[in-house]
Amino acid sequence: MTADAPLTQTDIAAIAARLDRPIVLVGLMGAGKSTVGRRLANMLGRQFVDADDAIEVAAQRSIPEIFDEFGEDYFRDGERRVIARLIEEERGVIATGGGAFVDAQTRALILERALAVWIDCDIDTLVERTARRNTRPLLRGGDPKAILTGLLERRQPFYEQAQLRVRGENNPHTDTALAIIKAIDEWL
Ligand code: S3P
Repeated sequence: MTADAPLTQTDIAAIAARLDRPIVLVGLMGAGKSTVGRRLANMLGRQFVDADDAIEVAAQRSIPEIFDEFGEDYFRDGERRVIARLIEEERGVIATGGGAFVDAQTRALILERALAVWIDCDIDTLVERTARRNTRPLLRGGDPKAILTGLLERRQPFYEQAQLRVRGENNPHTDTALAIIKAIDEWL
């Protein structure tokens, strides 16, 4: 297959069959991890799981409630345990919350047992997308653009450790999912 040739269903099925580990999407809030992850899983015929949803189910509370009642450290402990369990259980696609890959233990586990894909995205797109919902505790305390810029500065050295990196500004998100499949094909 040449680099620019469009992927056929047969190509995608062949790539899916060769990949023997979960795909874990990492990157900042608003990068599109959940939407892209769902499309990617669908295209590859794999299960999709959103780690933030799994944390909410385990805690029987929403993420803002967890932050409000117990604080961020408690959320991070739960996040570490839930992602470890998902990697153990799933051979699918896992979307993680933006801070998950910053945790040394989680990052080491993902890099060893899964394939990390960083969905890198410009700040203006992240600001626009995250403004659509008010469900992110870390964005409540100030100017979202300044907060996201600071988070990117601190987290970029960790995100850069992902085995693969794609751009996330694409619309539709299906294009990002296809870019991930191409990147996986090259990586395999
Ligand atoms: C967080 C990102 C959120 C969620 C929590 C903390 C972060 O997930 O896990 O609010 O630290 O960046 P998304 O990246 O899916 O918004």
